[in-house]
Amino acid sequence: MTKVKSDNQRMRNDWDSRAQVNALHYNSPSHKPGEYDQFFSNGEDFVAQEFELLIKNLKLSEDSQALEIGCGIGRMVRPLLKWFGTVNGIDVSPVMIDEAIKLSSGPEYANLHFQPSDGSSIPLADGSQDFIFSTGVLTHLPSADVLQQYMHEIHRVLTASGVFKIEVPIQEGNWKLFGIVISRKFAPLIPKFIFRLARKMTIKNPMKRNDTYMGVSFSRAKLASMASAADLKTEFIPFPEGSDHTVWLVGSRT
Ligand SMILES: C[S@@+](CC[C@H](N)C(=O)[O-])C[C@H]1O[C@@H](n2cnc3c(N)ncnc32)[C@H](O)[C@@H]1O
Repeated sequence: MTKVKSDNQRMRNDWDSRAQVNALHYNSPSHKPGEYDQFFSNGEDFVAQEFELLIKNLKLSEDSQALEIGCGIGRMVRPLLKWFGTVNGIDVSPVMIDEAIKLSSGPEYANLHFQPSDGSSIPLADGSQDFIFSTGVLTHLPSADVLQQYMHEIHRVLTASGVFKIEVPIQEGNWKLFGIVISRKFAPLIPKFIFRLARKMTIKNPMKRNDTYMGVSFSRAKLASMASAADLKTEFIPFPEGSDHTVWLVGSRT
């Protein structure tokens, strides 16, 4: 089995297990059980702050489509129905997708389409999506190969004038080693496996300790070269929520 195929299988199994335990928590740890109204209203606020301006600059028609990679139980996709004729949500976990379908089953959501995916490809037609986004997902990928494959897929399914905005993990900011903050300046002196070991040892929840949750991170140079290998034109934009370990990668086809 190739590396990406085995990563896909582990991502599906691990995220299905998390969804079975508590789908809401594993979409947004800050929400308590049953807090669906707050969860969905948080999605609306996030879309308004992070995507609205970008979307309003697109030339859209009633056939325009948007896609979220890693939609979970559907927090971010609903508000996009304001602008797009069809909104697609894909997720590696069929259990998350079943829950998303249940939660957004009313007639007002008829143009929302949820479907499970294999974890590294996009089950949609070439040149079909005007806007592609992803948040809180690519930060959990177990290998660079999966992210590289997603970048090729984004290039394939974007329309010629389409744009994408994806949250990606960067190797920046300060790091913690057994609770002690280590400045990024000194971090390169400490072998990476020590940080990973420390993280593993200090995270209590075993479901958040494996590589399909902790994920891998990249330098900006590496991210830029992966995007260019996929023929994507990109720029970095700061991520809003005070995270110094992630950044938006925004772009289009070259
Ligand atoms: C933290 S949740 C975020 C969900 C949603 N984006 C949100 O902000 O509400 C992460 C989601 O990504 C999904 N996921 C993880 N790895 C994925 C992959 N490789 N491809 C697609 N979905 C993935 C998980 O199943 C989970 O539903």
